[in-house]
Amino acid sequence: MLTISDVAKSFGGRTLFSEVALQVNRGDRLGLVGPNGAGKSTLFNLILQNESPDEGVIAFQRGITLGYLPQESAPAGDETVLELATAITPDFVELSRKLKAWDSTHPDDLDPHDDVHTRYNDLGGYQIEAKAKTILAGLSFRVKDFDRPAREMSGGWVMRAHLARLLTQEPDLLMLDEPTNHLDLEALLWFQEYLKDYPGAILMISHDREFLNQLVSGIIEIRRGSVYRWTGNYDSFLVQRAAHEHQQLAAHKNAQRKIDQLQEFADRFGAKASKAAQAQSKRKQIERIREEMADAPEAAEKTVHFRFPQPQRSGQRALELEHVRFGYGANTVYEDLNFEVERGQRIVLVGPNGAGKSTLLKLAAGVIEPQAGVRELGHNVRAGYFSQYRAEVLDLTRTVLEEALDTPQRITEQAIRSVLGSFLFRGDDVFKKISVLSGGEKSRLALVKLLLDPPNLLLMDEPTTHLDMPSIDALVGALQQFEGTLIFISHDVYFIRALAGHVLHVNAGRLTPYHGGYQYYLDKTKSENARAALTAGGTSSASASKPTRTLSGADRKEQKRLEAEQRQARSRDRKDRQQLVHRLEKEIQELETRIAGLTAELEKPETYQTPGRPMQINRELAEAQSDLAQRTSAWEAASAKIAEIEKQESATTA
Ligand SMILES: Nc1ncnc2c1ncn2[C@@H]1O[C@H](COP(=O)(O)OP(=O)(O)OP(=O)(O)O)[C@@H](O)[C@H]1O
Ligand SMILES: [Mg+2]
Repeated sequence: MLTISDVAKSFGGRTLFSEVALQVNRGDRLGLVGPNGAGKSTLFNLILQNESPDEGVIAFQRGITLGYLPQESAPAGDETVLELATAITPDFVELSRKLKAWDSTHPDDLDPHDDVHTRYNDLGGYQIEAKAKTILAGLSFRVKDFDRPAREMSGGWVMRAHLARLLTQEPDLLMLDEPTNHLDLEALLWFQEYLKDYPGAILMISHDREFLNQLVSGIIEIRRGSVYRWTGNYDSFLVQRAAHEHQQLAAHKNAQRKIDQLQEFADRFGAKASKAAQAQSKRKQIERIREEMADAPEAAEKTVHFRFPQPQRSGQRALELEHVRFGYGANTVYEDLNFEVERGQRIVLVGPNGAGKSTLLKLAAGVIEPQAGVRELGHNVRAGYFSQYRAEVLDLTRTVLEEALDTPQRITEQAIRSVLGSFLFRGDDVFKKISVLSGGEKSRLALVKLLLDPPNLLLMDEPTTHLDMPSIDALVGALQQFEGTLIFISHDVYFIRALAGHVLHVNAGRLTPYHGGYQYYLDKTKSENARAALTAGGTSSASASKPTRTLSGADRKEQKRLEAEQRQARSRDRKDRQQLVHRLEKEIQELETRIAGLTAELEKPETYQTPGRPMQINRELAEAQSDLAQRTSAWEAASAKIAEIEKQESATTA
C-alpha cells in the first residue's frame, strides 16, 4: 500500500538517510527504531508529505487512508473530548454538531423536517460514538471528562484524545510517533491489547522494547544514514543485528587480510619488469576487493564521563508531609497522609494508575498545595519538579549551546560542552537551533539544563520519556552521581533498577515503604513480572502485615485482574520465545549442514587445484562457525528463559 524508493533526505549538509527502499503492505505491523535524532520522525514527515525528499519517490496505493499521531503536540480547540474522539471526517463533525444543536433545543422531539438524524445514523453515528467511548475509557478517560472541552485538559490528555480519534477512525495505515510517551502503564497495557486486533497496517516509532515485542512482526532500523528492514519482533531484531555485525566484521577482516597479501606481492614484485604485469593485476584485484568490501561495523559510541555540579547540601530531613489532605473535587486522594524523606534517598513511587503517584510528587514539589496539613521542607532545601513535558520550557529561538550556557551556576563553556557531549550533543550539534531538534534531543537538552543547576530535592515524573538507550544511560550516570535527594516515577524497569534505593508503594491513599531497591521490592511482594509489579495494587506482604485488613470486593477484582494480566503476559512471553527458539533451531541445523559440507570440500584434493578456493572455504567456514556459536548461545538463553517461565506458571497454577 506504500512504496518508498530510493529516498534521501539531509538537513544542512548532514545526511539523515539515503537510498531508502521500503514497502509497507496491508496488515504489516512495523516498528521504526533508531537512536534520538536518527531521522525517524523525519521519515514520517516525508511519508505524510509534510516535507519532501531530496531524492526518490514515495507512492501510495490509490484510496488508502492514513492516520497519524505526532510525537509532540497535537492541537485542541473548543470541541469536547468526545467530539474530538469522533471527529473522523469533516462531514461527520458537521453533522454531529447540527444534531447536538437540534437536540439541545428540542430535547423531546424527533427532527421533523431535516434528515440529520437519518444521515447521522446512516454514517453509523451512534456506533461510532459508542466505539469512541469504549476507546476513551480504555485510555483512562473518565466518563465525566467526555464532555469537557479538550483544550482544558493537559497536553498528555489531548494527545490521548487524538489517539482515541485515530482508533475510532481506523485508517488503513496507522502511523504512530512514540505513542506510549503519553500513556501511563495501565492505559498502555489496554492500548497494546487493542492494537493487537487492529484491522489495518501499523507503522510505529517507539523506544519501548516491551511494547514493540508485543506488537510488531518487523523492524525498520535507521542507523548511520541507512535504513534496514528486519523480520521479527524487537528482541529477534537484536539477535539478528548482532549476528549481522559479527559477520560483517569477519568479512571485513578477511577482505583486509587478502588485500594485505596482494599488496605485499605487488610491492615485492612491482619493481621487477618480468612481474610488472602481474603486480598490476594484483593492484586491480585490491581495488575490486576494496569496492566490494563491507564497511567495518563501527564500535559503539563512547559516552563521555563528566563530573556534574552538585547542589548545596541540605539538612538531614529533606521533606516532611504531615496530616496532609488532598482531593480533586469530591474525589479525595489523600487523607491524613504522613511522609518523610531523608537527605540523599532515592525513592521510586510505584502503584496502580490513579493511585496518586503524580499527586504525591506534586505535593512534595510544592506544585500543588495541601488542602489540610502541612508540607515542610528541611533546612536549605530547594525543590525542583521535572515532568515529561519539561521540553516545553526551552527557548525555541536559541541554539543548544546558548540555552545550556544560560545557567545561574558559574561553569566554563568548556565544562558545559562536556556536559552536552555526555548527553550526546557532539561537534556542530551544539549550534543547532532548538526549534529543529528531535523529541529526544529536546528532552536531553532539558535534562542538561537541569543537571547543570540541580536542586537538592529533585522530583521527576517519567524522566526517560523520548530518550533512547544511550541517553537513558547518560541520565542514569548523572543521577548516580547526584548527591541530593531524588523522588521519581518511571515505568522503565531498567531505569528504576539502576537508581532506586527505596520503593514507595502508593495505593488508595496509603503508602507502603520498602527500604531496598527494586529487586528487594519484587522479592518482598513475591512479584514475578517486574513490569506488572509497577502497577500492582495490593501487595501480599502489605496485606499480610495487616491481618485485620480484608480485601474489599473491588480490591479482589483488581487483584484477580492483575493476576490474569500477569498470566497472560507470561504466556505471551513464552510463546514469543518459543518461536524464537524454533527459528534458532532451524538456523542452527542449517549452519551445521553447511559446516559439514564445507569441511568435506576442504578434505577433497580437487579443492586445492582451484587457486584461492581453499582460502575462500576457510573464510566461509569461520563465518559459519561464529554464526553457529552466536545462535547457540542465543538458543541457550531463550530456552533457559522458557524453562523459568514454565516453572513460574506451574508454581502459580499449583
Ligand atoms: N528543519 C530542520 N533543520 C535542520 N535539522 C533538522 C530539521 N529537522 C530535523 N532536523 C534534525 O534532523 C535529525 C533527525 O530528526 P528527527 O526528528 O527525525 O529524529 P528522530 O529519529 O525522530 O529522533 P527522536 O528519537 O529524538 O524523536 C535531528 O538531529 C534534528 O535535529
Ligand atoms: Mg522523533
